[in-house]
Amino acid sequence: MSTYSEIKKVTTHTLQEMKRDNVKISMLTAYDFSMAKILDDAGVDVILVGDSASNVMAGHETTLPITLDQMIYHASSVVRAVKRALVVVDLPFGSYQGNSKEALNSSIRIMKESGAHAVKMEGGKEVIESVNRILSAGVPVMGHLGLTPQSIYKFGTYVVRAKEKQEAERLLEDAKSLEDAGCFSIVLEKIPAFLAGEVAQNADIPIIGIGAGNKVDGQVLVLHDMLGINKDFHPRFLRRYADLYNSIHSAAAEYISDVKSGDFPNEKEQY
Ligand code: KIV
Repeated sequence: MSTYSEIKKVTTHTLQEMKRDNVKISMLTAYDFSMAKILDDAGVDVILVGDSASNVMAGHETTLPITLDQMIYHASSVVRAVKRALVVVDLPFGSYQGNSKEALNSSIRIMKESGAHAVKMEGGKEVIESVNRILSAGVPVMGHLGLTPQSIYKFGTYVVRAKEKQEAERLLEDAKSLEDAGCFSIVLEKIPAFLAGEVAQNADIPIIGIGAGNKVDGQVLVLHDMLGINKDFHPRFLRRYADLYNSIHSAAAEYISDVKSGDFPNEKEQY
């Protein structure tokens, strides 16, 4: 069976076929050219230009401050690096909640100015009108349910969502509404694994999880977290694949010491 690694260009249709063939989808965030190039060369299926850029790139406490212009800047850098992956860009807080016309205009700006392939937005039934309007312009939309960080001040905390029956039922309904509206995929963040599995089983579109167990169609992680750049963030769902904080720290310390001692540059490293 194909693992889809031979696919030259991943599209929303490819993801649909991967779900049909039970091939798991890999997705990671990226915000700049150099990282996006490495991820694309490694064969990641989807690159998300997440509004988590607000945290990991700009140092804000939440995702709320990042602007549409800043997202377009990050997305354009990523698009310039990518040959194979599908590039999805988050609609940032304040760029779509006003009304569906605002949502459409923001999506059109992202698509035109960055060259990305799709947009992602947080929310369920309350964003359906916007999803419809964006789709009517031919822009693919990915949904995002469960822990939706743009609503952090409404939730008050980043704890696991939809543990209670009422919230779980609402999430199932929201997922159905997003699929019926035409979303090509949905991200489920930080919800019980059995609930995420139920959504994935009932849906014909790929469901991508983060902190949502492995009964879904694919996984996404924030790049800086999985690379161990951000050493103070260690939720249970995070697996670290590198320890870049310590690697970069020791490289920088060694460089500083070599400069101070006069060891760098040596005779071979000069003209
Ligand atoms: O912004 C982001 O990185 C995200 C992922 C956590 C899914 O939305």
